[in-house]
Amino acid sequence: MSRLKLGVIGAGVWGKNHVRTVAGLADAELAAVCDTDTKVRDRVARQYPVTHVTADVVDLLSQVDGVIVASPAASHARIALQCVEAGKPCLVEKPFALTVRDAEAVARLAADRKVSVAAGHLLVFHPAVERLRALVQEGELGKIFYLYGLRVNLGQIRADENALWSFGPHDVSMALYLLNDQPIRVAAQGRSYLQPGVEDVVFLTMEFASGILAHVQLSWLDPHKERKLTVVGAKKMVVFDDMEPREKLRIYDKGVDRPPEYGSYGESLAIREGDIFIPKIPNIEPLAAELGHFVRVARDGEVPRASAADGVRVVRVLDAATRSLAAGGTPVTL
Ligand SMILES: NC(=O)c1ccc[n+]([C@@H]2O[C@H](COP(=O)([O-])OP(=O)(O)OC[C@H]3O[C@@H](n4cnc5c(N)ncnc54)[C@H](O)[C@@H]3O)[C@@H](O)[C@H]2O)c1
Repeated sequence: MSRLKLGVIGAGVWGKNHVRTVAGLADAELAAVCDTDTKVRDRVARQYPVTHVTADVVDLLSQVDGVIVASPAASHARIALQCVEAGKPCLVEKPFALTVRDAEAVARLAADRKVSVAAGHLLVFHPAVERLRALVQEGELGKIFYLYGLRVNLGQIRADENALWSFGPHDVSMALYLLNDQPIRVAAQGRSYLQPGVEDVVFLTMEFASGILAHVQLSWLDPHKERKLTVVGAKKMVVFDDMEPREKLRIYDKGVDRPPEYGSYGESLAIREGDIFIPKIPNIEPLAAELGHFVRVARDGEVPRASAADGVRVVRVLDAATRSLAAGGTPVTL
């Protein structure tokens, strides 16, 4: 089978990881890279002498079978529409778009033209998240009560998107994927300490119809680097710590048991502290898994694990959170 010709649009801080990963794929080749910055183009041309390097999206589209869009967020929807118009499947980095309208326009055109569009929700390809999803969906944790995540560190401080739009897509897409559900209400509070109008820290809460509450703390102004998610179920609890080099998931056989004769007295609730289990998680780089999957989407028509519709769902949550932020944290119904 011939190797799929992939192109990357935007080879900056993150896009260069796409470039490197595509170049290493067995069943695809790095056919073209497009970047508006001359210095970036020169670097790519030096590193990948046989790759077509250009400043023009249309030129890139003429060279490839599929596209990864890793340019700044404000250009995602416009470039994704260009890819779909040209009939080229594309994977659009997070955030999928900056408005619900733009996200829906991409999803609609993709459906009309029958061109596959994937959302760059990297964490749904994390092997620990896949395992965690199975635990949640197969009932191993019992009824899910709530979950909370921490995504904090110092930098990269962005001027064109706040901590909600920069980090939030990861946690929102992960929560929606784990629960296989969408929130009905969203509330967010945040503050801009470093640049006016660009929140450095955001506390986001999502409420699901099932009663599940999901909370996320997002910040690029924090002394710690934390990438953590805790899921609390009626039977078991799990902590996913992505800063751990190997033991990324810990399953706690802990909970509070309610005896059958339980009345209304709290003291009859029994705390259960059982074993802690650390499953072996395959050591697969999520980006390599995401791009390997995208090759199958673009070449074989496999259904994207994170589709344009998923991109729209996450943008809807971020948009509602933005409205809540502007209203000082008042919950917004979706
Ligand atoms: N999935 C992840 O884990 C992850 C991590 C970091 C960033 N991102 C996302 O990736 C995107 C890029 O982020 P970054 O940190 O690499 O930004 P960046 O500013 O470092 O890089 C963007 C690159 O795109 C180029 N560019 C700008 N406009 C362009 C256009 N119209 N056509 C072609 N090239 C253009 C710029 O010259 C630059 O080289 C953002 O949406 C960001 O949120 C995703």
